[in-house]
Amino acid sequence: MDHFQFKDGSLHCEGVALATIAAAAGTPTFVYSAATLRHHIRALQAAFAPIDPLICFSVKSCPNLSVLRLVAAEGCGMDVVSPGELQRALAAGVAPSKLAYAGVGKTHTALTEAISLGVGCLNVESAEELELVARVAAELRQPASLALRVNPDVDAGTHRHTTTGTKATKFGVSPARAEELFERMRDHSFARLEGLHLHIGSPVLDAGRYAQALDVALALIDRLQQRGHAIRTLDLGGGFGADYETGQAPTPDAYAAAILPKVLPLKQRGVRFLLEPGRFIAANAGLLLLRVIRTKRESGKTFVICDAGMNALLRPSHYDAFHFMWPVQPPAGLVPTHRTTDTGLQPLETCDVVGPLCETGDYLALERALPTMREGDLLAVFTAGAYGMSMSSRYNAQPLPAEVLVDGGTATLVRRRETLTDLIAHEMHTAPLSA
Ligand SMILES: Cc1ncc(COP(=O)(O)O)c(C=O)c1O
Repeated sequence: MDHFQFKDGSLHCEGVALATIAAAAGTPTFVYSAATLRHHIRALQAAFAPIDPLICFSVKSCPNLSVLRLVAAEGCGMDVVSPGELQRALAAGVAPSKLAYAGVGKTHTALTEAISLGVGCLNVESAEELELVARVAAELRQPASLALRVNPDVDAGTHRHTTTGTKATKFGVSPARAEELFERMRDHSFARLEGLHLHIGSPVLDAGRYAQALDVALALIDRLQQRGHAIRTLDLGGGFGADYETGQAPTPDAYAAAILPKVLPLKQRGVRFLLEPGRFIAANAGLLLLRVIRTKRESGKTFVICDAGMNALLRPSHYDAFHFMWPVQPPAGLVPTHRTTDTGLQPLETCDVVGPLCETGDYLALERALPTMREGDLLAVFTAGAYGMSMSSRYNAQPLPAEVLVDGGTATLVRRRETLTDLIAHEMHTAPLSA
C-alpha cells in the first residue's frame, strides 16, 4: 500500500502532483510519502502487538534526517551500523536506549561511543569483537547490554548479496560458538551478554524462513537457560519484503503468523523484542522522479536515456532488481491499475531505460514495455524509498539527487540537490601530510 496514485491522469504523491515537485525541485529527485511511512509502521505495530516489539527502523534503508524524525515521532527506535548512522539517529532525537547497533567492523572508537552513550542493544558479531567490547566496557567502567548475533545457517532465499544468515557469510557466530561465548562472559563485571540477534537477509519473501531461523535460536536459548544464562532480549532483525510488484510481499500479518507462535512463550517469560525493518517501511514510501533527456533508436533497440541511472538507484544493476516505472503524465488510456511487467495496456514500446553514465551497467530496466517516452517527459521509478538514496553515488561526477517529503498537501525539500561546486569542495584545499 502506498500513497502514489494517478489522479486526473497525472501521478500524485498524496495531495501533490509529481509534475509540480519536478518543476520546483528539478530532477533527479527522491520523493517520499509521510502517510505511507506512517501506515507501514502502524501496520507492523498492530501485527506484532502481542509481543510489543521496539521497532528499530533500519537507518541504512533511508537515512534522510526528516524521514528519521518522522519515524521517531511514531515511537520507533533505530537500527544503526556505523558512527555516521548513529549520529543521524541521535540528530533525529532518538534516545540511545532505543538504538540497536550491529555491524561486523565496529572499531574501538565506535564501541567506546556506543557504550558511553548507553546504546540499548549492542549487537556483537564475532568472538573477536566481543573481546574488544568487554575490554572497552571495562576501560569505561560502564555496563554494556549486549546481544550476540547468531548465524542460524538458514538461506533467506534472496539475492546472494543480501543473504546474511548462512555460514558462508561474514555475519554472526554459530550456535555452538555462541554457547562458548556466553560461558566466557558469565562473570564479566561490565559486558552483559543477555540477548540474541538474528538477521537472515533482505528481502525475505518466504515468512517460513523466519520460523526456520527461530527454531535454531530457540534451541540455543533453551541450552543457554539450562546453563543458567538469562536471555532478556531477542532482536528478530529486519528483512520484511516490499511490493516491487503489486501484491508481491507477504503482509505484516503473514510474517507475524510465522513468528509469533514461536516467540510468545518467551514474551510470557519477560523477554523484550526488537524488530529492525527498513525496506518494509520505506521502500514503497518513496519513488525516484526522473526526466527523459532523449529517446535513442538504434540497431532495432529503443533506449530511454534519463537524467540519472545507477548513480541514483543502484538496485537494478547491483541486485538485478525489478522496479516498476511509468510516465508521470501518461497518454489517455495508459494509466496502469497494478505495477508489474505486464500491465495489459496497449500500445506500448519495448525499451531499455538507462542513465547518462559511461557504463553499460547503467540501467534501471531492460526490455521494458512503456508508453512511448519523449524528451522532457517525467518518469517515476517506484518502490525506491529504501536502498535508493542511501546507495546512490557521485560516479561520473554526478551530484546526488534532491529529496522531497510530502505530507498531505505539503511538499518539503528535505535535502537540497548537490551542486557542481559541492562536488569539488573537499579537494579545493590541499595540505602537506605529516606523520
Ligand atoms: C542487521 C540488519 N538489520 C536490519 C536490516 C534491514 O533490512 P530490511 O531493510 O530488509 O528490513 C539490515 C539490512 O541489511 C541489517 O543488516
